[in-house]
Amino acid sequence: MSSDIPRTFAEARELFPHTAHSVYFNSASYGPFNTRLQQAIEDNIQLRLECKQDDSHDAFINMDELRGDYASLIGAEKRQVGIGLNTTFGLNIAAFGLPLKEGDEVLVSDIEFPSLVYVFRAAAETRGIVMKKVESTDRRLDIAKLEQAITPRTRMLAISWVQFFNGYKNDLKRLSDICRAHDMYFVVDGIQGMGVEPIDVVDLDIDLFSSGCQKWMLSPQGCGFFYVSDRIFEQIRPPFMSWLGVDWGMNFSDLFYWDKPYFETARKLEMGYYAILNLLGMKASVEIFKSLGIDKIQKHTHGLIDRLAAYLNDSSFYTITSSLEEKHRSSILTFTCKDHELLQKRLVKDGIVLVHREGSIRVSIHLFNNEADVDTLIAKLRENAGE
Ligand SMILES: Cc1ncc(COP(=O)(O)O)c(C=O)c1O
Repeated sequence: MSSDIPRTFAEARELFPHTAHSVYFNSASYGPFNTRLQQAIEDNIQLRLECKQDDSHDAFINMDELRGDYASLIGAEKRQVGIGLNTTFGLNIAAFGLPLKEGDEVLVSDIEFPSLVYVFRAAAETRGIVMKKVESTDRRLDIAKLEQAITPRTRMLAISWVQFFNGYKNDLKRLSDICRAHDMYFVVDGIQGMGVEPIDVVDLDIDLFSSGCQKWMLSPQGCGFFYVSDRIFEQIRPPFMSWLGVDWGMNFSDLFYWDKPYFETARKLEMGYYAILNLLGMKASVEIFKSLGIDKIQKHTHGLIDRLAAYLNDSSFYTITSSLEEKHRSSILTFTCKDHELLQKRLVKDGIVLVHREGSIRVSIHLFNNEADVDTLIAKLRENAGE
């Protein structure tokens, strides 16, 4: 079983056993496991089965490294990053922790994934904020309509970086400029871009960035991280608190203190003991991203998407429903055709794993995919089109 840190895409592919029998284009739903992750989790289970020593402090060291790893991938500093459970975790910090008053408006696009919608719906119900829907055009965020929706009561824009159903990548620079011009918090659900599209959250002046790692970051479900800008850190009144949000100086043998200082870092907003098996898996996977580099991963995935798009564009049977505009393209390509749901089922039966969303077949292309995977799909699409 290979678990070395890969230096090339071919080496990385070898870490994914599924590549021997299936073509997986479904990382936008759930990323496949790799043998590095497997090894890390199994090693820890073995350690805990043997229990030869007190290893309870190892979790803190691992967490600290993980915060640093994720910070380095998004252009942040370790102190600005906390480890959460999923995307929703960080969105809740924004919805319930920031100083929003009754009647304050939060803009949310009408094509958002429900995780964002329901967090802000609950904030509307309990805090009296107003979640304002921004109408999309052609299933893309409409910047003009977004600007028209802004009033003096608008305090926040909460938005996905990449739209889950068509891969449309929002122009975060443009949105950030709008937020700054209107003194609005800028909150980003990063899960559909994280790991495959480069980002610098500091440069983009994002206030809160949250991402689960179960998809493109190739980690178990129940793993995620969040970034909090320096500007908003002091403004946040934590909607929840944990005994590990305060600084014990790693001394856990003297615990009857009620006045320990909170951490002055994003760690303050984490939640109690860690799901360490998941996090060890996450840590094993993040090394793959650090080694290959997200710039190179993006080049790899976009190159493969170009290969598929070239065929789809040539075919009169299929219609691409994603944007391929440089600024808005991502590692998701969607297309549609007659009986697309039937076709999706047939592809899965043939060992090509992908899903359909909102009227299109969604192809999520990742670092372990290669040209042969794309060609296998194209061959099946040709067959389906009777070419
Ligand atoms: C854009 C987007 N946000 C969030 C999620 C999931 O949220 P969470 O990680 O909190 O489960 C998904 C998909 O499951 C998604 O596509």
